[in-house]
Amino acid sequence: MSIRGAQMARRPCPLYYTEFGMAFVGDALNLLNLLRNDSINLVITSPPFALLRAKEYGNKPQEEYVEWLAQFAREIKRVLKEDGSFVLDLGGSYERGKPVRSLYNYRILIKFCDEIGFSLAEEFFWHNPSKLPSPIEWVNKRKVRVKDSVNTIWWFSKSEHPKANVKNVLIPYSERMRKLLENSEKYYTPQKRPSGHDISSRFSHSNGGAIPSNLLQIPNTESNSKYLRCCKIAGVKPHPARFPTKIPEFFIRFLTNPNDIVLDIFAGSNATGEAAEALQRKWLAFEVDKNYLSASAFRFMESENEKEIIKVYGELLAKEARNIPLLRTQRTILFRKESTDFYSQIFIRT
Ligand SMILES: C[S@@+](CC[C@H](N)C(=O)[O-])C[C@H]1O[C@@H](n2cnc3c(N)ncnc32)[C@H](O)[C@@H]1O
Repeated sequence: MSIRGAQMARRPCPLYYTEFGMAFVGDALNLLNLLRNDSINLVITSPPFALLRAKEYGNKPQEEYVEWLAQFAREIKRVLKEDGSFVLDLGGSYERGKPVRSLYNYRILIKFCDEIGFSLAEEFFWHNPSKLPSPIEWVNKRKVRVKDSVNTIWWFSKSEHPKANVKNVLIPYSERMRKLLENSEKYYTPQKRPSGHDISSRFSHSNGGAIPSNLLQIPNTESNSKYLRCCKIAGVKPHPARFPTKIPEFFIRFLTNPNDIVLDIFAGSNATGEAAEALQRKWLAFEVDKNYLSASAFRFMESENEKEIIKVYGELLAKEARNIPLLRTQRTILFRKESTDFYSQIFIRT
């Protein structure tokens, strides 16, 4: 192989790409290896969980799981920018045959901080009120444990001061606060607390919204999204463990600016890519299963024309790592690696 050929071989070819992002089929560890140091602003991902019952997308036994995931985390630390963040969603789990919780998500947290050198910027809890009760044995049959409806989401950072702006994720004020802002004299009189602390009248000024808490209440009840509609048309089973797009959307808004680069290393149905595209952040999706990644392209298709959906899906599945443009404008330009700044900005040049 010529030197040029060898250089090209180190650069992977996206399965598809959009105006802002690129989706690659492959093992995330191999793909991470090809990224430059200090090139990514945010990695947000939800790995295959260490659940006891094997999921259809494959799980490692709990003992191996923490070390398996640590390999990815070491590479993530290398590729993150100094003010970058790594957001990791982990579902809870029980030990086999016992009503005793696994500590794996906490072991991951401690290992990633103590051994890999991440800081825990903040822990988040994702409350999904629509989660089904499980495990059936302890929750439904014996009724000795309650429903687990919270995932832990660890927000790791490479440095102690990651880029973050709460102003980008303000939530609507409560009814009480709205009344106070409308008529602060009626509802609120600035006073000194018994401690002598002055609660000044600045509380009566609107800041455009309230500061959110680290409890994210987001149901996972998507039933009529474009992704699901297109899966149905193409006769494809939707990915079984999708993020609601509001999860990546929250962290992308909070931790990045437009044109920053967001990476999901276990992209599945590429909910992260969809959120990033809408927020005009550049994105990369890595996913080992070509079927899942091919169907994820539905999220970016402009048309819901049955023939077109089936055609694009068939092409994505059939072709060997070919890049198929799915720009919103449906332009049919060819993807040229050399001419794409974004591509050469992130992938290693030998
Ligand atoms: C929990 S799912 C992620 C779902 C995703 N957040 C979504 O919204 O669709 C985990 C994904 O990781 C993929 N996966 C497992 N091992 C992988 C690896 N070594 N490299 C890349 N992807 C992998 C699985 O195929 C699965 O789709």
